[in-house]
Amino acid sequence: MPKITVGLDIGYSSIKVVSLSKEKEQFKLVSLGSIPSPQPGLFSDTDADLEALATSINKLFSASKIDTKEVVVALPESRVFTRVIDDLPYLTDNELTSAIRYAAEEFIPMSLAEVNLNWQVLFRSQAKTTNAKTVVLVIASPKRIVAKYIKILQMANLRPRALETETIAATRSLVGNNPFSPGTLIMQMGATTTDFTAVSKGLIWLTRSISTGGMTLTRSLAQHFNFEVSQAEQYKKIYGLMEDQLGGKVFEALKPIVDIIAGEGKRVIQAFETKSLHDPIKRVVLSGGGAKMPGLVIYLANILGLEVQEADPWFPIIKDQGSIARLAQEAPSYSIAVGLALREED
Ligand SMILES: Nc1ncnc2c1ncn2[C@@H]1O[C@H](COP(=O)(O)OP(=O)(O)OP(=O)(O)O)[C@@H](O)[C@H]1O
Ligand SMILES: [Mg+2]
Repeated sequence: MPKITVGLDIGYSSIKVVSLSKEKEQFKLVSLGSIPSPQPGLFSDTDADLEALATSINKLFSASKIDTKEVVVALPESRVFTRVIDDLPYLTDNELTSAIRYAAEEFIPMSLAEVNLNWQVLFRSQAKTTNAKTVVLVIASPKRIVAKYIKILQMANLRPRALETETIAATRSLVGNNPFSPGTLIMQMGATTTDFTAVSKGLIWLTRSISTGGMTLTRSLAQHFNFEVSQAEQYKKIYGLMEDQLGGKVFEALKPIVDIIAGEGKRVIQAFETKSLHDPIKRVVLSGGGAKMPGLVIYLANILGLEVQEADPWFPIIKDQGSIARLAQEAPSYSIAVGLALREED
């Protein structure tokens, strides 16, 4: 029996699941699915609301015919503290541990006892030369948030095989660890947030999360036209940023919000490129449900002056010929779930 891996992405607007099998060093799609998240869902901390999430997860697993109990889950970037520390000299492993704890105290707004600290060495000079250095990606996950996710899984009778961040998962599925891929900015547009990840040589160098996302766009339309939220949601999906539709009125209502998101993207690119270590950012990959907005790819390409493409997490995965067209429609929504299922280590 080939090994089955399952990635579970619990979003504020929908829950996505992907299961893959690994055969001869290649991942193959076994199953996928999504279900709307119950509200208030992850916004709440009460047992009743978390139970509702667990029930939806169980429904999704049955509908997708997944009976694997071990899953890989992601914490939202907005809830964790991620930082690249690049001003360390050459350090041994032991020295590194204490240097990271020391540095973490500066960028984490809570005590170290309240977080799980993880890190990944991005670069370490060979020897103790004068300008030798160590660069590490540090992730601090508040224990309270981790406990909440584990609780939801327990309620759903599932076990976490691993827990990582959404940006790590999306980077794995959209860029991989290919050292030859060009400098890439991943823009992950969910319902509640947009997350930015600058990736160079397969490694994450900078992340940022802002609380402007798909819901902000819908709300802006609803206000502008005095629509119900559901109607605004439809208009957003049908007309989006198409300037020639409805006399450009939808475009005008959405533009200021999209410009906030694009502006943040620009700042992330600038911040990344002022560090001399890297290649410049050559392309932008648009991911998350918001990536499907009509006209967005072209609009961002013009504003950012870069190649912009819609995320395709299915690209490296073997799938039935017959399902390719259907998978393409929803592709950007599955970047995180696919990335989680692609995780090999426990
Ligand atoms: N065709 C479309 N055009 C514009 N927006 C879309 C389209 N399809 C989905 N969206 C938007 O994408 C958002 C949902 O995306 P996604 O499923 O990535 O979010 P989520 O994971 O549930 O939320 P979060 O990541 O914030 O927890 C919603 O705001 C929805 O309106
Ligand atoms: Mg999401």
